[in-house]
Amino acid sequence: MENTTIHATNGTSRGDEMRSPDQTQSPPSRLSFVHQSSRPITLRFEDLAYAIKSQSGEDNNNNLGSSSITNMTRTLLNGVSGVVRPGEMLAMLGPSGSGKTTLLTALAGRLPGKVLGSITYSGQPFTSSMKRKTGFVAQDDVLYPHLTVIETLSYAALLRLPKTLTRDEKLQQAEIIVTELGLTSCRDSIIGGPLIRGVSGGERKRVSIGQEMLVNPSLLLLDEPTSGLDSTTALRIMGTLKGLARGGRTSVVTTIHQPSSRLYWMFDKVVVLSDGCPIYSGHTGQVMQYFRSIGHVPGFNFVNPADFLLDLANGELDLLMF
Ligand SMILES: Nc1ncnc2c1ncn2[C@@H]1O[C@H](COP(=O)(O)OP(=O)(O)OP(=O)(O)O)[C@@H](O)[C@H]1O
Ligand SMILES: [Mg+2]
Repeated sequence: MENTTIHATNGTSRGDEMRSPDQTQSPPSRLSFVHQSSRPITLRFEDLAYAIKSQSGEDNNNNLGSSSITNMTRTLLNGVSGVVRPGEMLAMLGPSGSGKTTLLTALAGRLPGKVLGSITYSGQPFTSSMKRKTGFVAQDDVLYPHLTVIETLSYAALLRLPKTLTRDEKLQQAEIIVTELGLTSCRDSIIGGPLIRGVSGGERKRVSIGQEMLVNPSLLLLDEPTSGLDSTTALRIMGTLKGLARGGRTSVVTTIHQPSSRLYWMFDKVVVLSDGCPIYSGHTGQVMQYFRSIGHVPGFNFVNPADFLLDLANGELDLLMF
């Protein structure tokens, strides 16, 4: 793809210059338990590369049954760098199949095989203690279908919150999450699954997010937390996450599909992937300036920066003006 050759490094120095007014304010958080993370973490990843071996079978002998299988290496990530400091939110943008989940999983220390480059957590490599401080919300939710929303969150609170809190305090945190994530109307509905009808997909996603938010991790990684949500609910959830990031000094990394411009401006930083290669990694406020400096300008005014970035990452260069 033509545009995958456009690489940007972290534009960390002038990031505040073009920040939208929304971006400088943290929404108020009602999360009473948002104490500072036990140990705020600076996540730094440099020059990440990841490849998998895949097998391709070829029928060589015109339907006579003989076939040869060749091993091929497929690069899923190539030269991806970035840094997320405590209290910051990083968005990963890119077309479907561009490597967002792969990158997020690598940052969570859950990718099988060898990831080249370096990922450090406040200068340290990934350890089991780091794993305990990391919250991970997968793209596909893994929840027990027969429990209700409040039961799911209450069990998570009882099992995962520290012993210093009483049972009642833990249950209260679960109730706060229900309110904070707008789950009051389905509080007593069962989660459900493919075979039993339960809460909606968006509500289920919010329960998954709530489970991880409960414990106020130092690093919170979320795969498409807003997919399937309307833009108002998506904005509300991201506002809650931003409150968690700012209040709890949590580093938040999310992959995201098609954010509205209001949602886009909630993020401090963005990594844009195209076929596993970064076309931009740095502050959200500098994106337009950066692409303008290399000759890519949106064809009309007042464009949503996220739409512009996705057009670039998809190689839709005819939608841009040069
Ligand atoms: N274990 C694997 N085996 C084969 N292909 C894989 C594997 N893991 C990832 N891929 C491929 O790598 C590419 C990137 O996958 P990834 O899930 O990271 O994309 P994504 O950007 O999260 O896409 P989406 O927005 O659809 O979730 C895809 O083309 C996918 O098919
Ligand atoms: Mg994905």
